[in-house]
Amino acid sequence: MLKKIVLNELLPGHVLGEDIFGKNGRVIIARGHVLSGKEIEFLKGHFLENHTIVIYEEGNKNFPNESHEISPFKKEAITVETDSQYNSKTLTIQQIQNIIKDGFASREDYQTTKKAIEIIKRDVSEAFDFLTINNEINDKKFQETANKIIRSFQKNQEEINFEYLYLIELENWHPDTFNHSIDVAFFTLYIASQMTTDLTELESLFIGGLLHDIGKYLRYKEGENRFYEIITKTGPLSDEEFRILKEHVSVERFFKDKFMFFNQKERDNIAFAAMDHHEKIDGSGYLHQKRGMQISFAGRIVAVADIYDALIRKREYKSMVKPDIAMRHIIELAELGKLDKRFTGIFKNLLGLYPTGTVITTNKGMAIVIGQSSEASCPKVMLLEHHELGEINLCEHNEIEIYEEIE
Ligand SMILES: [Fe+2]
Ligand SMILES: [Fe+2]
Repeated sequence: MLKKIVLNELLPGHVLGEDIFGKNGRVIIARGHVLSGKEIEFLKGHFLENHTIVIYEEGNKNFPNESHEISPFKKEAITVETDSQYNSKTLTIQQIQNIIKDGFASREDYQTTKKAIEIIKRDVSEAFDFLTINNEINDKKFQETANKIIRSFQKNQEEINFEYLYLIELENWHPDTFNHSIDVAFFTLYIASQMTTDLTELESLFIGGLLHDIGKYLRYKEGENRFYEIITKTGPLSDEEFRILKEHVSVERFFKDKFMFFNQKERDNIAFAAMDHHEKIDGSGYLHQKRGMQISFAGRIVAVADIYDALIRKREYKSMVKPDIAMRHIIELAELGKLDKRFTGIFKNLLGLYPTGTVITTNKGMAIVIGQSSEASCPKVMLLEHHELGEINLCEHNEIEIYEEIE
């Protein structure tokens, strides 16, 4: 249930029941977001005191408190007890962060990692600028950025924070899972870029996408040899195999002490991208059968990106589904209450049914998709046999029918 309260009554932990828009009409804090003290201060600076904000009422069945307490980091941070320095008392998250920062900031490896992160940040930011300025996705540009990021991991292998080394190990272990992770990271970035303009948050969501399936490799590395067989199996999985596969989202422990150079919110994004990406809005997912807004922001975005990429990707055990079919499928999943409707809608608008750069056949011959229009089903195309006609918006040409998409 939603309720309205005045701005002054807002407390950290309250969950937004409405989107908050910035001056440019973009969502700056999304519905379902758990507010932090800093964000409440920000809101107070933006609105008058008596401004009302819609929040989710506590105790609501679809939104139990539990969902805001499950952060493995927050729990630990609040109950930690120190011996000498703080006289065995409960610390605030800020104090904990300061301790981490003081311990880390002076270390050399922290500094080199920070530099590497700055480079990644710049690359992501460039790609993001491109998306904003041109208002469309340029696959080549994003691909270049991905390659650059990966190269930067490898070049600095010894210097860089070891969290990223898992990615390189993942590439050696199972290149297909690695490539899938890169795609999911970029799709996640596309969707998230329409929800927030905070570059640090976008970066964390990108990393969340990169590491969302890292649990598959971690389980294998821990000695669960069957994991490799399971992910490369051509036939259907047995109940036992599916039970094992599900364990790849149990990565709470792995993420607990990682990415300390990020704030809590960003670290949560990274961890929950991996922990929540198989949960479904209607509670039919795994591992914890979370429902609706119990599923983290990162988890709901990555779920859309993950299913789409899993469908279009050719795997050992299945052939590729064409992008329009894949997009129709995830829209259907959103309609059925499985995927977040908002994020699916954003994704469909960005990518269209026929992503830019794909070749399609029409009743007028082959055509290449050169951009998206307001309708996902009728992109802008160039007819290969009539290229003198230039760019054609298929929404304005009912006489041209799309037959199918060519790989
Ligand atoms: Fe997964
Ligand atoms: Fe995945």
